[in-house]
Amino acid sequence: MELKFVLTAFVFISATVTTAEYIRPQPRRTLEFPWDPKPSSHPQQVHISLAGDSHMRVTWITDDESSPSVVEYGTSPGGYNCGAEGESTSYRYLFYRSGKIHHTVIGPLEHDTVYFYRCGRQGPEFEFKTPPAQFPITFAVAGDLGQTGWTKSTLDHIGQCKYDVHLLPGDLSYADYMQHRWDTFGELVQPLASARPWMVTQGNHEKESIPLIMDAFQSYNARWKMPFEESGSNSNLYYSFDVAGAHLIMLGSYADYDEYSDQYRWLKDDLSKVDRKKTPWLLVLLHVPWYNSNEAHQGEGDGMMAIMEPLVYAASVDLVLAGHVHAYERSIRVNNGKPDPCGAVYITIGDGGNKEGLAHKYKNPQPDWSVFREASFGHGELKIVNSTHAFWSWHRNDDDEPVRSDQLWITSLVSSGCVAEKSRELRKILMSP
Ligand SMILES: [Fe+2]
Repeated sequence: MELKFVLTAFVFISATVTTAEYIRPQPRRTLEFPWDPKPSSHPQQVHISLAGDSHMRVTWITDDESSPSVVEYGTSPGGYNCGAEGESTSYRYLFYRSGKIHHTVIGPLEHDTVYFYRCGRQGPEFEFKTPPAQFPITFAVAGDLGQTGWTKSTLDHIGQCKYDVHLLPGDLSYADYMQHRWDTFGELVQPLASARPWMVTQGNHEKESIPLIMDAFQSYNARWKMPFEESGSNSNLYYSFDVAGAHLIMLGSYADYDEYSDQYRWLKDDLSKVDRKKTPWLLVLLHVPWYNSNEAHQGEGDGMMAIMEPLVYAASVDLVLAGHVHAYERSIRVNNGKPDPCGAVYITIGDGGNKEGLAHKYKNPQPDWSVFREASFGHGELKIVNSTHAFWSWHRNDDDEPVRSDQLWITSLVSSGCVAEKSRELRKILMSP
């Protein structure tokens, strides 16, 4: 009897210990993609992105070089009462030759409306929903995706969430010079990326430059064209867009960012046009985090931060989302390394599930500005409820279940008075040569 009691107690204690301590899973292997032959004129790797006011860019690839860059669309299945013709491109990378990459902008589109569409007059019908005109709006966020078993888990969880726009702060395919990996990534994300706009910015894994032979970002720029022209930028590596009361600025960690650079000048120009009455929320995405207490990539963002943080602070940016470090970390409102009620909340979310695995080692003690840090795969959701409040949550891939592990109500800097308080300081920086 006594032995039975001791054994029962042991099992209970073991179970308690096992469940209390979350055991982080190992990295998962890169997915295998069986050859899936399609007629050469059928669209592959379909994804969409916002392209200026009430417009959407549809991107797809065909093996057939004579396939037209035409999108037919309408609000009922098979009822294509609208159409548009776009442009196409292709690229060579050593011995690899891409298919025909089509980019076609369609619109004007109604807000919060489901559209059915077909690419190149061939193949299956796709559908997407446009974002709402006003709050509430929900963003799904996952950086450093790759294409492993964990990527699939993250994408499955995002697919279960009700969201309007996907934000990806860099490191998409982890093709890493193997160009066919861009194609498999395009196929992997198509179910989600053909249904909701994917707004991405570049990471180091998009570079793929070879000295004297290949320029950087060739594949990325050809395949993931973002609305840089629509936002007055001269580079696909940095741009901005408005959606439902939020202005989002996608910065380029791997484009020049010094005070005399095109990117810095463009950022000043873009900020000078932001009207916080129209877009009370101001968000920034970039790849290399400025606030990072992980040992991984420690200090890599310092150069860009030294130049751009004063501008981001003066502009009262509400939230800065970064990737690169394969873990999750959230700050309090901070500026210049110190807690500041008018600073941005900085979130690192480079934990989409890539082949390199997690970044486990943190610097200790935990800095004052860092309030939550954990090395697990997962994704984030940002629901902007109205002009004053947004709800942020981080969902860890707990085995294969999404578990909400961090959450926070964020109050906008418009509502706290910071925007008004700093308007003179911002004007001074924007006016400086
Ligand atoms: Fe990275």
